[in-house]
Amino acid sequence: MSEQLSRAITSNQLGPHPDVPSLVARYWQHPFQKPIAEHSAAAFSEVAPIVAEFTGPLILDACCGVGESTATLARRYPDALIVGVDKSAHRLGKHVAHSGSQEQGQYVLVRADLNDFWRLAHNESWQPSHQFLLYPNPWPKKKHVGRRWHASPVFPHMVKLGGQFELRSNWSLYLQEMNLALATLNVDSSMAQLSNELSPITPFERKYQASGQALWRLRAHLEQPNVVDQTQLLALRKLAEATADMLKSSARKNEARR
Ligand SMILES: C[S@@+](CC[C@H](N)C(=O)[O-])C[C@H]1O[C@@H](n2cnc3c(N)ncnc32)[C@H](O)[C@@H]1O
Repeated sequence: MSEQLSRAITSNQLGPHPDVPSLVARYWQHPFQKPIAEHSAAAFSEVAPIVAEFTGPLILDACCGVGESTATLARRYPDALIVGVDKSAHRLGKHVAHSGSQEQGQYVLVRADLNDFWRLAHNESWQPSHQFLLYPNPWPKKKHVGRRWHASPVFPHMVKLGGQFELRSNWSLYLQEMNLALATLNVDSSMAQLSNELSPITPFERKYQASGQALWRLRAHLEQPNVVDQTQLLALRKLAEATADMLKSSARKNEARR
């Protein structure tokens, strides 16, 4: 898979979805009620004692896929315990461990649904020093906005876990929406394009890079989140609409020039 080339994301959505701030505010105010899946609870109960006994920093690697980034982070942060989480047994089953190395670091891979895992970790008062979310599924169709993590009911739990957050994607709009979602919770974030020289740390990153796609990262310190008031909420919606209008008119101009 890592050797395949991939096409850039196309979407019927040009700017950040204007519903993102109101979705974030709604989920902030109304707790996520969906029952926790049994398999996620069982997986969490296996990893929770390991985390409880560990005395160093904790790092979460959400949507870790085959766990390549989890292993890389473990080498990069040798004092930390990295918990990689993915729902796909198939992907996790492809993890390649580089055993026998002193520099291997400490990590565990967990098969669980993050819709459950983030809630369980938050309820258990985990305090990760870092949270990574590398190349989540983009769900580029406009009607699927609610499937993107920042517009989903579990988002407040992920943000309340805290720590230094890093999101990477080949779809800059995903980051723009995350920026908007975090702004709705009074959390600043910054976006930047990753260098072409970047040494890839996940199979998807490697694949997109090999295809010549631009890659983006967003960073934020998830500290003291709290939802903005109604006036600011409306202002954020208008900002999203204005950005979408601007992008639409520049797309039309480009089309006319051709
Ligand atoms: C595009 S892949 C990226 C994987 C890896 N980060 C990489 O860059 O190679 C997205 C991953 O998110 C995982 N995923 C999607 N929804 C999930 C959920 N609800 N809970 C846990 N993992 C999920 C998928 O199984 C998949 O491995």
